[in-house]
Amino acid sequence: MTKIEKIVLSYSGGLDTSIILKWLQETYGCEVVTFTADLGQGEEFEPAQAKAEMAGVRDIRIVDLREEFVSDFVFPMLRANALYEGQYLLGSSIARPLIAKHLVGIAREVGADAIAHGATGKGNDQLRFELAVNALDPSIKVIAPWRQWNIRSRMQLLEYAEKHRIPVPSDKRGEAPFSIDANLLHTSTEGKSLENPAEVAPDHIYQRTVDPVDAPDAPEIITIGFERGDPVSVNGKAMTPAALLTELNGLGGRHGVGRLDLVENRFIGMKSRGIYETRGGTILLAAHRGIESITLDRAAAHLKDEIMPRYAELIYNGFWFAPEREMLQALIDQSQAFVSGEVTLRLYKGSASVISRASPCSLYSADLVTFEESAIAFDHHDAEGFIRLNGLRLRSWAARNGR
Ligand code: ARG
Repeated sequence: MTKIEKIVLSYSGGLDTSIILKWLQETYGCEVVTFTADLGQGEEFEPAQAKAEMAGVRDIRIVDLREEFVSDFVFPMLRANALYEGQYLLGSSIARPLIAKHLVGIAREVGADAIAHGATGKGNDQLRFELAVNALDPSIKVIAPWRQWNIRSRMQLLEYAEKHRIPVPSDKRGEAPFSIDANLLHTSTEGKSLENPAEVAPDHIYQRTVDPVDAPDAPEIITIGFERGDPVSVNGKAMTPAALLTELNGLGGRHGVGRLDLVENRFIGMKSRGIYETRGGTILLAAHRGIESITLDRAAAHLKDEIMPRYAELIYNGFWFAPEREMLQALIDQSQAFVSGEVTLRLYKGSASVISRASPCSLYSADLVTFEESAIAFDHHDAEGFIRLNGLRLRSWAARNGR
């Protein structure tokens, strides 16, 4: 085994990473620094702190990354209207590169030669962590205990905990828990009964949204302000990125917005089924498309839509810090220079629908499109020639086919 001097562990304080902490200390016999990111997962951090102290960790980092998460990761991604496989808003995918960035930063600061994470060998998250570390500092080694130790099941994990006097919460003793990942953008739930895609997800899986059936009978109208592609206000009130997303999460959750039951293709080569709740993100995607609809040129908008699946796949597969993602980002960001204005939406029983949009930089011309007499010179005969030329090759083709 390679000699390791010091490790920075991505640590949630949950059972898995508590066991990983112990295992690292035992296996490598070196100092482990813990890093816990507050991404708005809505957990208390005192228990994580206390558990790390109990495990003898001297350097415990708990850092509030909510603003950085939303402004530097979520918003740039939203500018692209990114959706993986047409539906997934990438809530877990976009959080990993941020965590990796801070793991690398702390490793450099404290002189650690390795970072460790609790992602398993079957998932996407290991790729996202490790490809980011590769791109940011190739000198840092990565330790992935789930791929290295000989713990092979939930049972063995609990046995290890018992042997090392790591407290196991009573609800974790019986059945294996769902695998849940939460942050300000979404909650994802996988595993257990969800592993059968033919089975309907039980109601209690949903933690952040009411069932649309039980949502208020009265719709709620909200207005979101955009500046250069990014949301900046809700109902006229300016907010920081994290505060704005938090506000929309509350509104969306109350109206059952953002639920998704999805079978997706993991990068590693298997299909998996998950339940997602992306409340504010779902509202923002609709709103951003709304403001783009009046401010983007047609060809610019269509080009964005062409590259979007590619861009989303890069994020899903863990290539956030890769040159091609940065190149696409530059293109996307440039397109947003005039994407400013206001969008009004109706939240109602699970849906977030745009009902109006306005912008000082609008390309929309009522004068041009009107069915009434128009002041703008538009010669209807031009359309005749336009159609005749576009139809030229179709007429040749049809004649050849003998139609
Ligand atoms: N399948 C989703 C993705 O790859 C969610 C992963 C959630 N991670 C977790 N540890 N449960 O983005």
